[in-house]
Amino acid sequence: MNIYDIISRKRDGFALTEEELRFVARCAARGKSDGGDAAENGADDSQLSALLMAIYLNGMTDEETALLTDAMAHSGDMLDLSRFGTLSADKHSTGGVGDKTSLIVAPICASLGVKMAKMSGRGLGHTGGTVDKLESIPGCRTALSEEEFLSQVERVGVAVVGQTADLAPADKKLYSLRDHTATVGCIPLIVSSIMSKKLAAGAKNIVLDVKYGSGAFMKTPEKAEELATKMVNIGKACGRNVAAVLTDMDTPLGTNIGNSLEVMEAADVLKYNVASDLSEVSFTLAAHIVSLTYGMPFDDAMAHVKDTVSSGAAFAKMKEWIAAQGGDASCLEDPSRFPQAAAAADVISDKGGFLAHMDAEAVGLASVALGAGRTVKDGPVDHAAGIVLRKKTGDRVVPGDVLCTLYTNKTEAVAQASERFLSALTFAEEPPVPQPLILKSIN
Ligand code: URA
Repeated sequence: MNIYDIISRKRDGFALTEEELRFVARCAARGKSDGGDAAENGADDSQLSALLMAIYLNGMTDEETALLTDAMAHSGDMLDLSRFGTLSADKHSTGGVGDKTSLIVAPICASLGVKMAKMSGRGLGHTGGTVDKLESIPGCRTALSEEEFLSQVERVGVAVVGQTADLAPADKKLYSLRDHTATVGCIPLIVSSIMSKKLAAGAKNIVLDVKYGSGAFMKTPEKAEELATKMVNIGKACGRNVAAVLTDMDTPLGTNIGNSLEVMEAADVLKYNVASDLSEVSFTLAAHIVSLTYGMPFDDAMAHVKDTVSSGAAFAKMKEWIAAQGGDASCLEDPSRFPQAAAAADVISDKGGFLAHMDAEAVGLASVALGAGRTVKDGPVDHAAGIVLRKKTGDRVVPGDVLCTLYTNKTEAVAQASERFLSALTFAEEPPVPQPLILKSIN
């Protein structure tokens, strides 16, 4: 078997065999850039990139996608969560702007007895990542040993860590090549990337938040549904309970974008239990996890979710979780204890009318420009930077209104971020037709 023949066959539109796909995952897991020898490992980065482009252009059958997912999941460690029986659960979002739902969903579910054992990512492009958000809490650690992770899940009911180098290493390599070769937006590659990590992370119950719209990788509900259906089918074929929820990411979720700003907003949802787009999506995802884990009807699960939030149990669990990971949980009670940005600048509207659309990707990029995301691989992020929206899609605006406040430690970035933010907005004389926030669930 050699990679040249595999690339040629995919270039010519053939379906790859199980043996070929396992060979590819093995090569990716031991790539040249990890210090191995290209010839010895069977494929170098240029060959893997060529194969990714051939897959991007010619696609993969459902069977190939499932085989590649399984091969990538087994390319490194498989976490054993069997000690939690059927109670282990994980949640994954395909990525968005202002998407801090994991910070809300995880403690809600843990407060109801679910064992939330979650591996999360860092920000990617215009989208944020839970690991960066957690690290904005002074002292909070996201690199726990496997034993620390498992014993925290056992004791507290929730632990969230970054992906370890040993978990699905084939995805790590292929994802970074895709990022550089314009091959990210390919459904079979996204399915195998996400599901290989979820399967390797070991949870019995998995809920996928598949986003569509301007701030999502899938721009249309149809594409999001195709992606969701394939991920659910693969997860079920591997013996997991899986549900997917299609949610709107055409406009940022909630009001706060940026790491510590998002933690503050997540804490507020659990503390004050005020209804918002953020609480609606978060409670729905949490109810799906509770429903899958306990095999209970969705409406009953939702009633439990609402009770645990209104009783304060979910907020108490959030503080216990953050403290267990070394974080200063007093920040959740008192946001002024977070390190504050040097500059706060209001963006003022010179237009009037209704805010008809807010392009989520452009707002995400404005937040990155302020320092909240990375512009170079593995670069630093400014945990205090970001945007607080003062107006949301559908709101009426009069000239002179504050549209948002920009927070940053790079004052020189304010003008560019403000311009980017304004370019994300469309005004109209009539209010926009409200769009559903949660389109459907698939399970
Ligand atoms: N998130 C992932 O982990 N992988 C993808 O391919 C896209 C989003």
